[in-house]
Amino acid sequence: MDREIKRIAILTSGGDAPGMNAAIRAVVRTATHEDLHVYGIYEGYKGMIEGNLKRLENRDVANTILRGGTILKTARCEEFKTKEGRQKAYESLLAFDIDAVVVIGGNGTYTGAKYFTREYDIPFIALPGTIDNDIYGTDFTIGFDTSINTAVDAVDKIRDTASSHNRLFFIEVMGRHAGFIALETGLASGAAATFLPETNWGIDELLKMLKKAAIRKKLFSIIIVAEGNENGDARALADHVKENLPNYETRVTTIGHLQRGGSPTASDRVLASRLGYEAVRSLLNGVENKALGIVNNKLNIIEFDDAITKKKKLDQDHLKMLEVLAM
Ligand code: F6P
Repeated sequence: MDREIKRIAILTSGGDAPGMNAAIRAVVRTATHEDLHVYGIYEGYKGMIEGNLKRLENRDVANTILRGGTILKTARCEEFKTKEGRQKAYESLLAFDIDAVVVIGGNGTYTGAKYFTREYDIPFIALPGTIDNDIYGTDFTIGFDTSINTAVDAVDKIRDTASSHNRLFFIEVMGRHAGFIALETGLASGAAATFLPETNWGIDELLKMLKKAAIRKKLFSIIIVAEGNENGDARALADHVKENLPNYETRVTTIGHLQRGGSPTASDRVLASRLGYEAVRSLLNGVENKALGIVNNKLNIIEFDDAITKKKKLDQDHLKMLEVLAM
């Protein structure tokens, strides 16, 4: 449909991710360049329901490209899952004369966009912002690169103390139900083993490997465990090893929310800037209700439904490499 876009609103929703601010900045500056007005919606869909919108101008996003978190704040909003909640959100957008909305987040954010746009005639564009990298239709999500760099930095530090004390460390990384963070962290930190929700590498294989290592007098190692690992979390795996191989001294570290903070890497800043820029250009070119991503360094535009329901696969070559390069 041909419509004139004069006012765009933008929000971040779900778990924050480093680079979200760079995306907001890019939307504001690209829109301003095109003589559009931008409104920031605070605290995600909750702010949309409550009408918590404020005009954002170029100077409001100065010095934000380097900042982690999200200047618009974020929330996980139950009310937006209801028809009544979305009705209130629609009324807020009407009250501010909003012609289109850019949302940045993960699967829950996309699902909200899908339901809203089925019910109301205000176009949405969704950008992938989550450290988990589990969104179909983009090679990388905003925040993933920063989060794996933070995790690898933490693992490197733990490796120093693990090696000094000859200890076996189980390090849990985030990723909810997906192993993207664990896979790349395992590869980049030279882990002896990596447990992912997508593979069925089990505790027996680990015990076998550790027995062999003990014969070689190698008692220190790093094991990466994805938080969604199906064969037990880091604590359960460590306890099992302790019971079966008492020669090993085990420790458990959960990196946790450290992975969600910090200044975004250059890659995340560029990815976020590019997606923010493309979001505004897409809206001006008549693109409505689509998810944007970058695949093979090219803009990829897909349906919300595909982004939500299709499962992104782990890089199979990286998985193979992980096996070959482990001890
Ligand atoms: O989706 C991002 C993420 O950091 C997941 O990796 C993790 O499981 C979850 O959010 C944690 O959520 P919360 O910050 O709400 O505890």
